[in-house]
Amino acid sequence: MKVLITGGAGFIGSTVASACLDAGIVPVILDDLSTGRESFAAGRHFYRGDIADASLVDRIAADHPGIAVAIHCAAKIVVPDSVRAPLEYYQANVGKSIELLRNLRRNGIDRVIFSSSASVYGADDGGAVMEEDPVVPSSPYARTKAIVEQILADSSAAGELRAIALRYFNPIGADPQSRSGLAHRDPSHVLGLLITAHRRGGAFTITGVDWPTRDGSGLRDFIHVWDLAQAHVRAVERFDAVTADEPYRVINLGGGTGTTVRELVAAFERVTGATLDVRTGRTAPAMWPVPTRTRAGRRICSGGMPS
Ligand SMILES: NC(=O)c1ccc[n+]([C@@H]2O[C@H](COP(=O)([O-])OP(=O)(O)OC[C@H]3O[C@@H](n4cnc5c(N)ncnc54)[C@H](O)[C@@H]3O)[C@@H](O)[C@H]2O)c1
Repeated sequence: MKVLITGGAGFIGSTVASACLDAGIVPVILDDLSTGRESFAAGRHFYRGDIADASLVDRIAADHPGIAVAIHCAAKIVVPDSVRAPLEYYQANVGKSIELLRNLRRNGIDRVIFSSSASVYGADDGGAVMEEDPVVPSSPYARTKAIVEQILADSSAAGELRAIALRYFNPIGADPQSRSGLAHRDPSHVLGLLITAHRRGGAFTITGVDWPTRDGSGLRDFIHVWDLAQAHVRAVERFDAVTADEPYRVINLGGGTGTTVRELVAAFERVTGATLDVRTGRTAPAMWPVPTRTRAGRRICSGGMPS
């Protein structure tokens, strides 16, 4: 079986491609390398170009007849950039997705798995996100995800295609075989900051210790990117069963309990054997590390998420 993975040279798409290969599913990658790395697509069927390029999608479909599912990971993902340049983000994430879907459909590819985000949920006053919460995205980036979800829902209802939207919570980690991962020289995400503090010997600052969480530090629902990738493999393998009754399905990909920053630091120190210089700092702005709080009888899904 073959799958098309847009954004397959990026952090998540490349990991999904590795998981597909391991499961005997052949990935075909379409990526413009705007943030992705060519080395992450090395040795794989790789087409460099834009998801909105109709002739390129036609060529891929002609070269690889019988692509069973398109996994649509390609997107611009930086929340603050989306606030600064919403038109660019709506064009990149919504406009181009529409072109892609139309061109896929024209080529007979009508099963779609979409990289959505838990940021489509509205955080309540404590920043908690529950699975039952309504979709109230709070940034242009998150709105692009919610809009594409709506497009997929409408198009599925009309019988044009079938789709599974996977709402990722906080992907973290890398492919266990190190075929790809997050590769930033100066990372701003919490695991990257821990690694930087460990490597360079600097302090690690916990931003905010008075959140209403079990230990006061921010809490997020981290999901290992390899688990996330495995979920995509299952979604590909079970696509027809999952969409048999409802042509459009939304599935949350998270752990459900979350990890606090303090717990993450403790786990990091346990695994590395190092003792970090841990300090505490001011509570960060609400849009960034948002904590999750419990609500009696309801399952926690997540804290806030950057993308
Ligand atoms: N990383 C997260 O925390 C997170 C959380 C929730 C959802 N997501 C979603 O997961 C998906 C993948 O995110 P990621 O973290 O791997 O980001 P990434 O930037 O590493 O990957 C995105 C990939 O898409 C490619 N791309 C972007 N625009 C393109 C276009 N027009 N044509 C072709 N290729 C294009 C980039 O070159 C890159 O390789 C995105 O849709 C993102 O919204 C990510």
